[in-house]
Formats: sequence, structure tokens, C-alpha cells
Amino acid sequence: MQKTNDVTGKPISRIDGRLKVTGQAKYAAEFNQNQMAYAFPVRSTIGKGAITAIDAGAAEKSGGVIKILTHENSMRLKPLNNPMELFMVGGLLGENLVPLQDNKVHYFGQYIALVVAETYEQARAAAGLVKVSYKQETAAIELEKELPTGFKPQQMFGEKVQINEGKAASLINAAPVKIEQTYTTSNENHHPMEPHATVAVWEADDKLLLYDATQGVKGVQGVAAFFFSLKPDNVKVMSPFVGGGFGCKGGQWANILLTAMAAKEIKRPVKFALTRQMMVTNVGRRGQTIQKIALAADKSGKLTAMRHHSDTYTNLSDFFEPSGKQTNVLYSSPMREVTYKVARLNIGTPTFMRAPGETPGTFALESAMDELAFELKIDPLQLRILNHTSMNVSEKLPFSEENLLECYRIGAEKIGWANRKMEPRMNRRGKYLVGMGMATATYPAGRSSASAKIQMLADGSVKVFSATQDLGTGTYTIMAQTAADALGVPVERISVEIGDSSLPAAPVSGGSQTAASVNPAILAAGEMLRKDMMQMAIADGKSKLSGRRPEEIEFVNAKFFVKDDASKTDSYTDIMKRNNKVMMEACATAMPASGGGLGGNQAPCSTAPFAKEENSDNKKYSFHSFGAQFAEVLVDEDLGTIRVSRFTSVQDIGRIMNEKTARSQVIGGVIYGLGQALMEETAYDKRRANPVTRHLGDYHVPVNLDVPLIDVHFIGKPDRHISPIGARGVGEIGITGVAAAVANAVFNATGKRIRNLPLTPDKLL
Ligand code: MOS
Repeated sequence: MQKTNDVTGKPISRIDGRLKVTGQAKYAAEFNQNQMAYAFPVRSTIGKGAITAIDAGAAEKSGGVIKILTHENSMRLKPLNNPMELFMVGGLLGENLVPLQDNKVHYFGQYIALVVAETYEQARAAAGLVKVSYKQETAAIELEKELPTGFKPQQMFGEKVQINEGKAASLINAAPVKIEQTYTTSNENHHPMEPHATVAVWEADDKLLLYDATQGVKGVQGVAAFFFSLKPDNVKVMSPFVGGGFGCKGGQWANILLTAMAAKEIKRPVKFALTRQMMVTNVGRRGQTIQKIALAADKSGKLTAMRHHSDTYTNLSDFFEPSGKQTNVLYSSPMREVTYKVARLNIGTPTFMRAPGETPGTFALESAMDELAFELKIDPLQLRILNHTSMNVSEKLPFSEENLLECYRIGAEKIGWANRKMEPRMNRRGKYLVGMGMATATYPAGRSSASAKIQMLADGSVKVFSATQDLGTGTYTIMAQTAADALGVPVERISVEIGDSSLPAAPVSGGSQTAASVNPAILAAGEMLRKDMMQMAIADGKSKLSGRRPEEIEFVNAKFFVKDDASKTDSYTDIMKRNNKVMMEACATAMPASGGGLGGNQAPCSTAPFAKEENSDNKKYSFHSFGAQFAEVLVDEDLGTIRVSRFTSVQDIGRIMNEKTARSQVIGGVIYGLGQALMEETAYDKRRANPVTRHLGDYHVPVNLDVPLIDVHFIGKPDRHISPIGARGVGEIGITGVAAAVANAVFNATGKRIRNLPLTPDKLL
């Protein structure tokens, strides 16, 4: 009779789907205000130097112009002396550069002035009239050239990054079988459908309302509160719908501060929406990498040492592409040396981009594994199986729930791996060479503290609240599913409000952690609310549950019933009515045993003490997801073109919260990986430091004809160690391993090993 866990996992369509397809879902730039003015930036046209003069005379006289902010006249914000101070109040800048505070230029495209006008067109036209003189210095653009003066970072966000430096050399030198190769990956941009946008409204001198396209409303709140010296509660950030994030909306960028500064200056609401071109320069990207891999094995193929050195760059932050991450985790090798060298380049600061680290890192490592297999004449899948481990060898901890061998088995069966030939060039289809390749996918399973509130109204409808956000992934829907099961209420009766910083706090929707963090809080709040209602019924002489013990009572379809006498029922609405309640609510904070995730502006909300969860204890388990990626490619040797003809992705991500939205996430990840593999590259003009791939006309991403049917499978076993929900998150793992699977398939088709992404036709000819 019990109907819990009935709707969780079901492939129900998005509850916000109708709003989206009818245009009613409002994105940040659509929150137009009365008296709103429009901002358009002036951006630097040099890569490095200083502004010597800004002549805004002509621009000021241009139609509709209200104000032009420059470093000379702009208000001073609280200086950022130490990014940790900001972090402590919940903020994280994409780059540590507070706009318009000095005359320095750090990269081409940096905001150096902001024109505010009555219309967007007037602001944009006037921005073109601002004349800027510079004292120019030589911009550092080329990674190879700048590496000698680069630095060896010791940590990133508090985590040690140089591991076992120098320790693998003797093992590699002594090994009977080894692979040593260099792999490179390109600069890539995120390009979500919705560019960044901010609308700023000062409701009082010390009270700010922001509509912002962000992956973290609490982070935006923290940043705005910090720089404008406001109480966090006096900053309200709204982001009810987000048109894709992929990491570039994870930290906060200068558009937020500029818009609020302009609104403060002119005492009117202001909107600033980025152009597609600005998305290339002003909100981060995945930095290029040069990765040197050495794999050492015995004659049977057992790995004895892995070494992974990555060269990459940063500009105005501590972030650099951490492409060695998976090499600390995958396989049973007893020795892993993972090191980095980072140059400082004068291009916009790199940032998180879908599976930062693993996306370029698995290309290098999983290509090298394929090379090792070929060297040993072992099937590449067999080599992975031979080196499989259920332990995180680096941390000496078991993985919390690990089914990678099953992923390999299912993937191999679905793609027909048994038909693959070890030797390349053995398979043709018409004019095409056909090849198959595979790679392992992996991504850590993060979980942070999060809060959620649930209300039940007199009519039996339910509202769920949390300051989380839906990037277009299905968060609204899985939140409703968890609430439905926690309360035993049909999912149609549940509405969800998120994307509002004044709601119970939740972490940034990054690191694939939203389901693993927020849903346990919803479950806890739902259970609290249900128990409160049950206690009211038990204490109520008019209830058929009167005097019963809680253990005797079950719930289904918005009512309680006595387990051994299902005729004795009491509905939620009846209980509330008899007790004169128009609304009942509960708020819960769910916290992993290892703590973490509560930023300075994220107070817990629980009305009851935290449930003593034994979950997500990273001293007992290593929390990771794994998967297997299999590609079949058709290569036209005359044209150098690669067509991915089939793709199978099998993912072990713990419990599936919604089979449809999870599948969409993996499909999206694989397509993202096909872009990385075959076409994505942000190129810079070395003379002028400007990106020359400035929009989706020249920055190529896969279109429908580039994408085959993507065959997705899940293991679906709940990870009982990460949370009572059992989900590990699915946002990022889908992209990992994809580029290696494709490159390995290209080798199998052609005998050509391409170690430089993207695999464009010129590299095959
Ligand atoms: Mo993700 S790159 O943490 O949004």
C-alpha cells in the first residue's frame, strides 16, 4: 500500500516545460523595469597596458546617453585585498578584477567604460564613439612562449595540486612497457543559449535587487553585498530560469557589479545584457592544455606508474584547468605523479567549464591508455578491466558505490565491441574507413549543505522552496518528484520556487552537486512536515488515527492510514481543517557528515536539529561517478572528415532522479564532448591579442547532422553512502572520455594517432 518512492526516477516531463515552450519562463534580461536604462560597455582593444586618456565627449552628446562610467569618474567599490574575504561571505569572482577602479588593461575585451542610455541601441551606438588612448605593453598570448616564466601552483581552492612530484621517474625508466606522449587541447568557450545578463534595481540606498543569469544566487548576493558594503539580507538576487550555465555562470563576473554601479549612479534601474562576442572574452573559458603523459606497465599490462604533467594558464584568478584530476583516481596503479605548470596570459581569465579538468584530462589519459593497449596488443577494453579498482588508490579509500565494470560490459554489448578489429584500417563501409574506440568517464560526486522549505496549503497543494537554480537541466522537476514521494502527494499538486536568494540557502549549481545537495533537504523537510501532520492527527480525538503509534501509520495519496486497517484514514486537508491551519510548513537543512558548503551568507534553516546523517563522509569513502564511452566513427580519407556514426554512453551516477532529464544531461554531455573532439577551438590573433572566433558562426559546435543517435544507459543503483537520496549528480560526467573515445576510434579506423584537439580535417590529411 505504501506509495513512497513512486515518482522519483520516473521519466516525467519537466514541470517547467510548458512555461518554457510558451515563452512565459522569464530569464534575467526579460525583467524589464519602469524607468529602466540600458548599459553597453566599451572594451579594451589592446591585450596589455594602461589607459592614458578616455575621450567620451562625442559619446556624451550622442542621443539618449545618460551617463558614461569610466575609471576616472566611477564610484569606488570596496577593494578586494584577499579573495578569501569574499569567499567567506559566499561570493566567488570569476576573475579578481573589480571593474573601473584603475586604468590597467589585462586582456583584450576587458570592460573599460560603461555607457548608460535610454535605449540599448543608443547605448551601443554611443559606446562606439568613446575614444581611448593606451600605453601599450606586449601582451602574453602564446602558452608555449610564456611557460618558461610560468609558476608551479601549490593549491587550487585549498586543494593540493602537485602530487608525488619526481617520484614516478624511476618506475617509468625501469618499466618493460611504456608510453610517453604529449596531448594538447584547445581553448573552448561555453556559449550557453542565454548570454549573461543583469538587471539592477536599487530599492533604497542600502537595498539592492538583482535579476541575474547565474548558477548561484547566493554567490551573486555575496559578491554584491561585499563590494557595495551591504548586509547580505539587503541584496535580493533573482534567477528563476537560466538558459544554460556550464560553469561560466558559476563564479560572478564584472557585469553584475557594473550594472549595480550604473543603477546607483543614475538612480534608475539598469539592464546590461552581454553580446555573444562578450561571451568569448568576459566570462571565462576552458584554457588550453599541453599534457605530457607517461604510463608504465608490466608485460601483462598492469600499470606500475602513471605520470601526468599539465601545462596551462591563468590570468586574474587562482583557477587553471586541472587536467590531471582523473589521473589521481582512475585505475589500480600504485604510483601516480600529477603536476602542473601555469603561465600568466593576457587573455580573459579561464574558469570552470563542464567537468573542468576531466574533460581535457580524460582525452590525454584515455588516449594514452589506448596507445598502451595497442603497444601491448591487448584489447583496450581489456586493459581497463585489467587495471580496474574499486579503491581510490591515492586516498586509500573505497569508492562509495562503484559499478564501472558493469558500465564497460553494457557499453561493449550495445556498441558491438566484439566486432572491433585490433589492427587499424580493417573495416570499410563504402568510401569510409570505420573504427571503434572507447574510454572511461569519471567525475567526482560533490555534495554540499543545502536547505529547503515545504509548505502545504489548505487545499492540499504543496510548495517547495530553495535558493537553488535550474540551469535548464530538470532541477525543478526532480525537486517536485522528491517532495511528492516524501509527502505522498501527487506530483501535479506540487509547485517549486527556486532562483531567489531570500529562500532557504543552497549551494552554487556547479560541480554536478545540486541533486545530491538539495534533494536530501527536500526529503528531510517533507518528512518533518509529514510527521507534524501525523502527530496532530494522533493527538486529535476526532481523527481515526487518534491514539495510534507512529509506527502503525502509513501514508499514500495525501492521506494517512493505519497499516493493518486501511479503512482508518485521515487526509492531510482534513487534519489541517480540523486544526484551523491554512498552511503548514517545515524547513530542513541537510548536511553531509563531512560538513561543508555553507557560505557566509547561508544560514541553516532547520526548525529541528540536523538529522544525524552518516552520509557523505569523505573520511570513509571516496565519492566518484564512473562511466564508459564507446564511439564508432566513419572517416573520409579524401576529405579528412570524421563522422561519429554511433555513440553509447553508460553511466554509474547512483540513483536516477528522473530517467528523462538524466538521459538528456548525458546526451548533452556527449554532444559537448563531440564538439571538443571535432570542432571547438577559440583562436587568438597573436598580434592583437583578440579572439578571432567571436560567435557561433566561426566557433563551431555540433549541429543535428553532426550528432548520431546517442545510446544512453544507467546502472541506477542508489549510492547509500552519499545521502538518503542516493543520487550522485549527472551534469558533468557525460562529457568526460568522449573526445578520447572518438580519437581512439579514429586511430582504429585510420591508423593515425591524433594527439591534438580538435580533430579537424587538416590533422588527418
Ligand atoms: Mo560546472 S563547470 O561546476 O558548472
